[in-house]
Amino acid sequence: MENRGKLYVIGNGPGDISLTAPKAADVIKNADLICGYKPYVEQITPLINARTEVFTNGMTGEMERVQVALEHCAKGLKVALVCGGDASLYSMASLVFELSEDVDAIEIIPGITSALSASAKLGAPVSDDMVILSMSDLLTPWELIRKRIDAVNIGDFVCAIYNPRSRKRTTQLPYAVEKFMTARGDLPCGWVKNCDREDEQICVTTLRQLDFEQIDMSTVVIVGSTKTFIKSGKMVSPRGYTEKYST
Ligand SMILES: C[S@@+](CC[C@H](N)C(=O)[O-])C[C@H]1O[C@@H](n2cnc3c(N)ncnc32)[C@H](O)[C@@H]1O
Repeated sequence: MENRGKLYVIGNGPGDISLTAPKAADVIKNADLICGYKPYVEQITPLINARTEVFTNGMTGEMERVQVALEHCAKGLKVALVCGGDASLYSMASLVFELSEDVDAIEIIPGITSALSASAKLGAPVSDDMVILSMSDLLTPWELIRKRIDAVNIGDFVCAIYNPRSRKRTTQLPYAVEKFMTARGDLPCGWVKNCDREDEQICVTTLRQLDFEQIDMSTVVIVGSTKTFIKSGKMVSPRGYTEKYST
């Protein structure tokens, strides 16, 4: 079908436009319509063509955003639905598939997720099996999140924590930290606030020293495993090469 629409679900990366994948940038430049959460669309403003229509809305506007994108795709337009970080992880890609009646019109373009951009700022804490956990109980019951925290301890995983703390949700992160310390001791940890954006802040510390007041919804926290160490202010989780190959 010649005039068939296409819906690209794009991960912007963490913030700095230089970290948006070239394929995502091309799609943004050539789209008929861009849909997205306002701050994420603002990040890619320099890539948006003057002729391109833009639809933005705010938090909790996810369903509307996806509906607008799907409706315009069904009318034959090239639509870019813009997400922060990666388009799948705690993001819009799955909702698009759930609501779409034409799955073949969808293409997902991945982006650098904040666990990886933060890992690069903190050193090399993510170098082996890891878990990504969200502390948000908005869509996942807290009882299940608690079980997942226990599973991180059982596997001695490095753990990246998304949605760590909001103004109203202040108890979940201290709960997880307490559980990690009880099971595995005072592990190295670090956080990056506004990673690859203006006002970026980086901190490497340990669980006992973690200042919860510094952490908000623009922060990703990375907790090391029992093998992780701090070297000159950087977190390092050894992959195992030196242990295996040194004589
Ligand atoms: C709803 S999730 C979206 C994750 C996004 N899809 C990704 O792949 O990074 C929002 C959470 O991601 C983390 N986050 C996203 N971008 C970030 C950034 N630039 N700096 C620090 N944390 C970020 C924060 O923990 C925030 O609360």
